[in-house]
Amino acid sequence: MTDYYAPGSLSIGFYDVMSAVCHRHLDGDVAFYAALAGSPPRAILEAGVGTGRVAWALAERGYEVTGFDRSPDMLAAAERNRPPGLAARLAVGELTAFDFGRRFDLVIAPFYVFNHLHTDAERRAGLARLNAHRADGGRIVLHLAGAAVLSADIPEATLADQRTTVRFDEHDAMLQVRIAGREVDRQRQVCAQHVEYALLHADGRVLHRSVETLRYAWMTDGQLAALLDEAGLRLLDRRSGFADAAGVEDILVLG
Ligand SMILES: C[S@@+](CC[C@H](N)C(=O)[O-])C[C@H]1O[C@@H](n2cnc3c(N)ncnc32)[C@H](O)[C@@H]1O
Repeated sequence: MTDYYAPGSLSIGFYDVMSAVCHRHLDGDVAFYAALAGSPPRAILEAGVGTGRVAWALAERGYEVTGFDRSPDMLAAAERNRPPGLAARLAVGELTAFDFGRRFDLVIAPFYVFNHLHTDAERRAGLARLNAHRADGGRIVLHLAGAAVLSADIPEATLADQRTTVRFDEHDAMLQVRIAGREVDRQRQVCAQHVEYALLHADGRVLHRSVETLRYAWMTDGQLAALLDEAGLRLLDRRSGFADAAGVEDILVLG
């Protein structure tokens, strides 16, 4: 088994396809960040920029975007996705230790980036770095996978039903993605999902198969309150969806 977003992983290779097909809960996130930033050009920092899904959309709206990610392969994909003529700066960086030596009007950690920090110490370090890059009066947004979702018991049969198939007719191929296993460690507050990617020829032959493990940590509300207190930040808004007010996301606006 490999880690999610490991070099050469299918979770990187098919990230853009899967984001577009599977993640309706992301609908509206770019507009939400733009509304918080105010009129362009304002400076926005994105932690865990990935393949540039959010960064390029914001840059195209006229914002001055800087992004970092710990995965050079994700950044290489972001560079391939760079729209012609856009000058956003992307760099390798670790959330708990990055330093751009400047401040931004809006600092965002979209699509569960902060759930990759697994301990209170990592979360404290990560939030301190984000806050050190926030301009006076600026906001930080953490889009988290909610604790209730990560800690839930999900029956095997329900997981088995959650298979996604994407067809690439021009290549006579299809991608099948399913959750092959899931473990919830309530002591450490970490949910590990073993995601199987299978690239099949149209005739059913397996061309490439890989099981990649995604580990997301959650915080209790008490841990969140202590984290914000220590960073000197206030929770200004908390919502359960970008477009869907009855969603299951945990979107925190801090300032
Ligand atoms: C789900 S992707 C989100 C990508 C992009 N922000 C989006 O919304 O499409 C999570 C990204 O966070 C990055 N990441 C995870 N932990 C990180 C850390 N500690 N420091 C920097 N980047 C991290 C991963 O490499 C991955 O690219």
